Amino acid sequence: MGIQWRDSLSIGVDGIDRQHKELLLRFDRLLNACQEGKGIEELKGLLAFLEVYVHSHFNDEEELQRKHGYPAYEAHRSEHLYFIDQLTKLTSETHQLGVSTHHVIETNNMLLKWLLNHISKVDMELGRYLNAGTP
Ligand SMILES: [Fe+2]
Repeated sequence: MGIQWRDSLSIGVDGIDRQHKELLLRFDRLLNACQEGKGIEELKGLLAFLEVYVHSHFNDEEELQRKHGYPAYEAHRSEHLYFIDQLTKLTSETHQLGVSTHHVIETNNMLLKWLLNHISKVDMELGRYLNAGTP
């Protein structure tokens, strides 16, 4: 039971869709590793990846919003900040205490509940706004 990219997740902005696909791919890798009992090992690499990737992904989305005068910019940005905050807490806990099963579950929940929800609602709304002027 993994997680697959599906066209219904496309927000209609190629560069952002590509980044979302990469995030989902990494998430899928974690789920597969969990099934093989290698979740803890995989999580170490995933958190290091997310720390860098999520920052630059959110920056790209926010830059796009500023460039196009997106009215819901502040609300969207605060969702990003919330996710980064959660991620930072989780990562620093793993640095202090070492990675445990609890962190694997937390990350799974965070990615499943927050990320997919954010893409399918908040990012989708952004996609609609950006594509509204396009014939
Ligand atoms: Fe977003």
